[in-house]
Amino acid sequence: MDSRVDRTNRRQTQTPAHQAPPCTLVIFGAGGDLTKRLLMPAIYNLAKAKLLSEKFAIIAVDRTPKPVDAFRDYLAEGIRSFVSDTASAPATEPFDKQAWEFVASRLAVASQLFGTIVEQLGAAGLVQEKDGRFRRVIIEKPFGTDLASARALNAQILRVLSEPQIYRMDHFLGKETVQNIMVLRFANGIFEPMWNRDHIDHVQISVAETVGVERRARFYEATGALRDMVPNHVFQLLSLIAMGPPNSFAADAVRTEKHKVLEAVHPLDDAEVRRNVVRGQYGPGLINKNPVPACREEPDVARDSNTETYVAMQLAIDNWRWAGVPFYLRTGKRMTRRTTEIAIQFKQAPFAMFRNTPVDILTPNVLALQIQPDEGASLQFSAKVPGPEISLGGVRMNFSYKDYFNTEPTTGYETLVYDCMIGDAMLFNRADGVEAGWEVVQPILDLWQNDKTVPLEIYTAGSAGPEAADNLLWRSGRQWRPLT
Ligand code: BG6
Repeated sequence: MDSRVDRTNRRQTQTPAHQAPPCTLVIFGAGGDLTKRLLMPAIYNLAKAKLLSEKFAIIAVDRTPKPVDAFRDYLAEGIRSFVSDTASAPATEPFDKQAWEFVASRLAVASQLFGTIVEQLGAAGLVQEKDGRFRRVIIEKPFGTDLASARALNAQILRVLSEPQIYRMDHFLGKETVQNIMVLRFANGIFEPMWNRDHIDHVQISVAETVGVERRARFYEATGALRDMVPNHVFQLLSLIAMGPPNSFAADAVRTEKHKVLEAVHPLDDAEVRRNVVRGQYGPGLINKNPVPACREEPDVARDSNTETYVAMQLAIDNWRWAGVPFYLRTGKRMTRRTTEIAIQFKQAPFAMFRNTPVDILTPNVLALQIQPDEGASLQFSAKVPGPEISLGGVRMNFSYKDYFNTEPTTGYETLVYDCMIGDAMLFNRADGVEAGWEVVQPILDLWQNDKTVPLEIYTAGSAGPEAADNLLWRSGRQWRPLT
């Protein structure tokens, strides 16, 4: 039986999704935070939506042995807090006991050392697809820690699995509004003709978080904001915004277009890294009016830690569509507000015939795509202020997801887990895409590693990041959009 479905039809006609075929989901590292906070709530949501087969089963594997019941209680706790904590969920949404029982009864736990899992699966003959049955492996980030390790990991798993069996996951691609970037661009006729260097002045991508390093120091100290967020999440947003129209929504057509964007990013030499990339680390400050410690005072963080919790950069894409259009990217922890936004700023009207009006500067046209938390889009433009003289003011047209659609809280993983089950890899990374992302950031990692004089800018927790990042834009007369 062919388990693939036509994504275009499924998405466009809004017919109810089909139940996924029977399968066993093996989670390696099941004792981790991710499983509890995101993956299990996603499975629970799929169970609630009746998208899981009666024959669905989970095998949870972790290094630390835990009795099955204690493990189930631990996961149930995660789902309860997901149900009540999700920003967009009504606080009263009840925990669906039946859906949880469905999932819990399909969960087995074994303890195992984490290692060359894929190789061992292969050696055990568990990845052979025969008699029409699929064998797929989902691999979450981090996929490598630099270009060399990502290449090595790809080579290692590709010795055992074929590319279509590998689902390299980036949970940002499961977010509704991230998928909506493609719909906005390619299902509407008005944007694409303007989506190029003739009409766009610059693009800003901001992924700001209020959370800090907190209890993740062991992971974060060795990782930093650049590795943690940029080659994966931020570059997914960049590729979706900058890619050319794919021939279809088939996985490879879309992934090829995305890959071409990253391949075209202008490679940074040392001088360009120094000039176009800013790294920062948060000092003490206030988040939601509550005092929070500096990164260096978080548990298990070295008092002289040089790990960046913020990174901003200016990139160029060397192709016909984008030549000369700067892309400004920034991401940071302990920023003033949690927001993920992509802003496309269009060029000014070519002739300022309103020179003698009481405004000095016309409001720039900005199309802002709000990815989270208040999903939607807005368009900013100039309008005449009512009155006898010509006076211009900036106005904004807003589309808010929650006003139009009755959205249920999701983690982003629901779509991805379901798509893996039905064999649709469009929202997963191909080997070349992962490597292209690392290729762009590798010169930055190298310079930071080799040149200890590159400044680490300390910014106040609860601020919009270091001032040095403002200079990236000021020097060409531009500015970051406020994180509001
Ligand atoms: C993870 C990073 O991949 O993404 C975290 O490791 C980050 O550091 C998280 O907080 C952000 O994801 P979301 O869905 O909360 O925006």
